[in-house]
Amino acid sequence: MTRTVLITGGAGFIGSHLADAYRARGFRVVLVDNMVHGQSTFLNSQDTFYQVDICSPEIKTIFKKEQPDIVNHHAAQIDLLKSISDPLADIQVNVLGTVNLLQAAVQNHVKAFVFASSGGAIYSPQKTFPADETHPLYPVSPYGVAKLSAEKYIYFYHKHYGLNAVNLRYANVYGPRQNARGEAGVVAIFCDRMLKGQALVVYGDGLQTRDYVYVDDVVDANLRVSDPALTGYQEYNVATGIESTVLDLVQGLTQQVSGKIETIHQAARKGEQARSVLDASKISRALKWQAKVGLTEGLERTFRYFQK
Ligand SMILES: NC(=O)c1ccc[n+]([C@@H]2O[C@H](COP(=O)([O-])OP(=O)(O)OC[C@H]3O[C@@H](n4cnc5c(N)ncnc54)[C@H](O)[C@@H]3O)[C@@H](O)[C@H]2O)c1
Repeated sequence: MTRTVLITGGAGFIGSHLADAYRARGFRVVLVDNMVHGQSTFLNSQDTFYQVDICSPEIKTIFKKEQPDIVNHHAAQIDLLKSISDPLADIQVNVLGTVNLLQAAVQNHVKAFVFASSGGAIYSPQKTFPADETHPLYPVSPYGVAKLSAEKYIYFYHKHYGLNAVNLRYANVYGPRQNARGEAGVVAIFCDRMLKGQALVVYGDGLQTRDYVYVDDVVDANLRVSDPALTGYQEYNVATGIESTVLDLVQGLTQQVSGKIETIHQAARKGEQARSVLDASKISRALKWQAKVGLTEGLERTFRYFQK
């Protein structure tokens, strides 16, 4: 029987790749996105699309009509700096919006709820390297607090209503379709600037590290946790376990062009983490998932996309 997946944030970077992948697997795909950052060009006419905010009472009607088997929740306020300047707006979308979806999910007997959490944000400030799922959780940004709070609500809905649920804690996701205008997404920002002939801005010494995971690998993790045989509650890191510096990105991208890339160094950003890297061995053991696309190949594919 055809299964239905409802993807929130389905017109965004990761959500639109998910829509393509679920559709290719034979799912009926329903998308919910308020288009605050979504792109209509990422939508596919085969899918059912609702331009609706996840906080809206309309969510109830959509769930009732579409009867999704799986909810894959990727809509979010993703700007960490904005979460500091306007924490209420962040809570509105990232906490209240999530709870609005959870209510609709249990009322409509959804079988599984998958959530895009952030390992980088909830483990920050990181104390052990790489961080596994048992790392202490004392996030120091409202964005991280909201992601953790959403995870805990999801756990509550699992315990109280028996909702099967998975919290996927992503490292730094990159790849085609990432927004180059946002504050997040350094790879997209760098590709965009290179193609405009602008210098790449490196904050501090450029030796701060992140764990860059390619979007196709993230999609693969989502598909694996969508297996109907999987029940219960899980938290999984989705990451490469490899630390790369900003200067590594500059070097990797330099290989994509013939000339030299100009960089400008600016003062380090206040409060920026020096190192972030996650241990994904739990999901590797449980679901045989592992990151397949290395940084060199991922940068090449991403740069080619921006070139087009
Ligand atoms: N990109 C990363 O490195 C990364 C890392 C960790 C976690 N995540 C999480 O993954 C998810 C997707 O991130 P992304 O990078 O694809 O971002 P994105 O901005 O491309 O996608 C988010 C989508 O959600 C939509 N949206 C925002 N607020 C909404 C609302 N109130 N109602 C309905 N739709 C709304 C936006 O229009 C956008 O299309 C987010 O939850 C983000 O926190 C991303």
